[in-house]
Amino acid sequence: MLDKLEKIEKEALKTLASVKDKANLEKWRLAKIGRHSPMMNMFSQMASLSKEERPAFGQGINRLKALLEKEFEDRRAHIKQAELEESLASEKLDISLPGRPVKMGRLHPSTQNLRRVLGILAEMGFQVYTARDVESDEYNFQLLNIPPHHPAREMQDTFYIDTGNNDESEKQVLRTHTSPGQVRAMREFSSQNPDNPPPIRIALPGMCYRFEQITARSEVQFNQVEGLVLGQTITFGDLKGTLSEFARRMFGSHVKTRFRSDHFPFTEPSAEMDIECYVCGGKGCSVCKKSGWLEILGCGMVHPSVLANGGYDPARYSGFAFGMGPERQLMLRHKISDIRYFWGNDIRFLEQF
Ligand code: DAH
Repeated sequence: MLDKLEKIEKEALKTLASVKDKANLEKWRLAKIGRHSPMMNMFSQMASLSKEERPAFGQGINRLKALLEKEFEDRRAHIKQAELEESLASEKLDISLPGRPVKMGRLHPSTQNLRRVLGILAEMGFQVYTARDVESDEYNFQLLNIPPHHPAREMQDTFYIDTGNNDESEKQVLRTHTSPGQVRAMREFSSQNPDNPPPIRIALPGMCYRFEQITARSEVQFNQVEGLVLGQTITFGDLKGTLSEFARRMFGSHVKTRFRSDHFPFTEPSAEMDIECYVCGGKGCSVCKKSGWLEILGCGMVHPSVLANGGYDPARYSGFAFGMGPERQLMLRHKISDIRYFWGNDIRFLEQF
């Protein structure tokens, strides 16, 4: 009987040594220490032994059971460790592999140009003043000398906002230009010191909206940058000097400028500033339509009644204002033939800037 136990032990330990994975370990467990294993069958044979033989056999089989169970646990721990090591080895990162390139976004070309314009104006002492996109009819038109039936309104077809209030001054619009910000700024500054309002030198950037048929040349939205300079001794000479210097910083130090008289309701006198065409150097080409000049901005001396609307006494204060379009400048510079590209969100267009 004890020989049998020894045989079972030898055989069980030998097969266990060759078990390399969990599935085979489970098979081994069922076969060697499971309920129907030869070892367990030995227990039932105890009854047939004589009283003298029983103790030795009992000790032997209990020792065998404890041994095989311990060997089983050791083997299980060993397999677990081996599997862990194998998975760590196979999942190891190769940190020498080059990374995947990250796609970088960029600023919209309009934003880029807007920042460039504002950067130049900032160097020249202008501070940025932002006004609202939704304006009252009063600020967008009336305080700028554009009364309800003024012909200038025809140039600016307007998006009106339905507020249910039809009182002319209370009507709300999407601003058609950044000029209403002039009066907002003047009123804010003059209210701080009504008897002696401070001088002003501000740039007003922002989106403007017009109720236009969308074509290659006109869009329903576009940016403008407005400028306003007010003080007690500001002249048309300051306007010309400041805007010519701006043009040199923006378009190149040798660029020539010229001022043509024009009309805007909120300035008097008014002008347009042209720069010599930088594509053909003034000889005439398709970009400047053979004229040799490119129209860059509208400007003028702030109209006395606009000054008064802002709380600045026109007898003591004077100033100039100007307005330009960053998208228009980009179109000229890059020969962009269709303004719709700006808000079309076509990545092939945007990626070029
Ligand atoms: N507000 C004008 C427009 O949208 C542009 C403009 C012209 C602004 C002359 C000015 C100015 O400040 O002085 O067409």
